Amino acid sequence: MTPGFFPPLDARLEAAADLIRAPLHADIGSDHAALPLALLRCGRAGRVMIVEKTAGPLEVARQAVSLSGLGDRAELRLGDGLAPLWPHELESVSLTGLGARTMLGILERGRAAGRVPRALVTQPNDDAGLLRGWAWAHGYHLKAERLAPGFWRYPVLRLEQASGPDTAYQGLPRAAALVYGPHLLRQRHPLLVQEVQAQLHRLEGLERHARPQVLSDLTTARSALTWLENSDG
Ligand SMILES: C[S@@+](CC[C@H](N)C(=O)[O-])C[C@H]1O[C@@H](n2cnc3c(N)ncnc32)[C@H](O)[C@@H]1O
Repeated sequence: MTPGFFPPLDARLEAAADLIRAPLHADIGSDHAALPLALLRCGRAGRVMIVEKTAGPLEVARQAVSLSGLGDRAELRLGDGLAPLWPHELESVSLTGLGARTMLGILERGRAAGRVPRALVTQPNDDAGLLRGWAWAHGYHLKAERLAPGFWRYPVLRLEQASGPDTAYQGLPRAAALVYGPHLLRQRHPLLVQEVQAQLHRLEGLERHARPQVLSDLTTARSALTWLENSDG
């Protein structure tokens, strides 16, 4: 057993850790460094890179690394998103606890610089559909999904670079699968059923305003519920 103090993982970070295994892994926007240190402790990563865009959280991470006693296997870098990584320096990255649009910005800037690694584990705090759409458009397949309990229900996605269309979406209503997650729909994940029902409740309350986005989201939520209630697959 490794000596030292480790910051605790909540359910969403546990779920993210469960989807990561890499000799060298970078955690972007790490703050307390709980995830990369847990990856080292449980042997899911051999070495980790901890990236932060601001000095304060980087210092928090530095102290956490020091307390863990695993400093010989952790490197800290200051910078925006994937920019502190060299192209092809590593194959595995996590982004957790950020908004989906912030993540998309990081991925798009990374793509322009040829710095997006082969495997990504993302836990957006909001619209996971944006990340599934990004993955579909840019040759990343959705290899696994989790839904973690917490203040909200947190989707965690493992994306891997691959060729051809992503078969995870086969046989599913496309818009519903992008928004709610193809693997989560197939699993009939109990938290996902709650999520769809909560969305329906919220959107039906807004339906009379007839805003196009509300009506479109409502159609998507209804199609997810219909699939959950009627499909065998
Ligand atoms: C809410 S914390 C999440 C911490 C941790 N990843 C988690 O899931 O608990 C977000 C952290 O991401 C950092 N961050 C935000 N945008 C970033 C970017 N473009 N590049 C690197 N770090 C960023 C912030 O400084 C902050 O420390």
